[in-house]
Amino acid sequence: MFDSIKAQDMEIYNAIVAECHRQRDGIELIPSENYVSAAILEANGSILTNKYSEGYPRKRYYGGQQNIDTIEEIAIARAKELFGCEYVNVQPYSGSPANMAVYFALLNFGDKVMGLKLDHGGHITHGLPISFSGKAYEWVPYLVEENGFIDMDKVEETALREKPKMIVAGFSAYPRNMDWKRFADICKKIGAYSFADISHVGGLIAAGVIESPVPYFDVVMTTTHKTLRGPRSAIIMAKEEHGKAIDRAVFPGLQGGPHDQITASKAICFEEALRPEFKQYGEQVITNAKALAEVLLRYDYNLVSGGTDNHLILVDLTNKGISGKQAQDSLDRAEITLNKNTVPYEKRSPMDPSGIRLGSPAVTTRGFKEKEMQMVGEWMHRVLSDIDNEEVQHQVAAEVKELCQHFPVAGTRV
Ligand SMILES: Cc1ncc(COP(=O)(O)O)c(C=O)c1O
Repeated sequence: MFDSIKAQDMEIYNAIVAECHRQRDGIELIPSENYVSAAILEANGSILTNKYSEGYPRKRYYGGQQNIDTIEEIAIARAKELFGCEYVNVQPYSGSPANMAVYFALLNFGDKVMGLKLDHGGHITHGLPISFSGKAYEWVPYLVEENGFIDMDKVEETALREKPKMIVAGFSAYPRNMDWKRFADICKKIGAYSFADISHVGGLIAAGVIESPVPYFDVVMTTTHKTLRGPRSAIIMAKEEHGKAIDRAVFPGLQGGPHDQITASKAICFEEALRPEFKQYGEQVITNAKALAEVLLRYDYNLVSGGTDNHLILVDLTNKGISGKQAQDSLDRAEITLNKNTVPYEKRSPMDPSGIRLGSPAVTTRGFKEKEMQMVGEWMHRVLSDIDNEEVQHQVAAEVKELCQHFPVAGTRV
């Protein structure tokens, strides 16, 4: 594999090979990551990258679109079937530009929007002051309570008082299900647009293992590379009446030509997600997250909200006397990858916060079940309870590597 790169660019070749080894030999617990199939890898690396196709199927600016139109139309049809949406745009480059497109389509600069605060589990595109979203719109945050749950009565109270033009329901670090219907009802009450950012749980919704906001919401965006297990990208779904505005906001509003190799990869991803096996995958993702949470609770780790309903777990390490960064670095050396994360009501800095965020989508793809999740929990505890012991870290790394050999990852055999 990678023979052409090897012949021409050893520096990049060496880095790719090293990354193959890292992905193959280590345990990936970052909840926004996953492993795509060999078919998706092939489409991603195909000659479709050579084409320019500004516009939409049958309405392009350049010639030679017969094959690209076919691919985009297939992606659209499959996305509609998968999520049961009336309209979908499959061209957004990724989740952040997709969110910008939704705001650009439905809001005016300066309009008021409600979103989950970043250190309470929201995303930077949900109004972080230094992001484009924070600068272009006026944000009123909603929070999680001390118990880690969102109190929908408080969300409603804030919405009735502030009368935002849009409410964003969605998260990057909330381990519980959101009450989609209640969010949509609140929006209806105040005449606001309802926008669900399901980037993290898009795959679980596609699998039918958690409730979908699509029937209730004006607009729903999902990235395609997290639980949905597709290429690094996003789609925007909506009620038909918003389709024209969203199409215009994506192109020419914010983007130029779509990335056709990614559109093809998304089409393949949607077909994979329509298979019955994907429902089993979704079920196992949740079962595995709960199994890992159980081990951590047994060792007295403080899980924000006390557990998980989905694929992710947020741990506040304050009672263990270690920081999120310390935990991330030590576990890195043990070949267990996760990310440091702020926790609600954070007292430390974002670069060295109190928590870690971890999850089950990637390890479930490679075939881990409850038994392996138990082992992961035990390894984590061994490393975290003796945080500076490099001997323990190296020993765990060797055990991790041994287990991983039995659970291959597509595209990493070099
Ligand atoms: C809720 C949410 N929205 C949007 C994004 C942005 O996606 P991307 O990183 O593809 O721009 C993320 C990514 O972490 C996310 O978690």
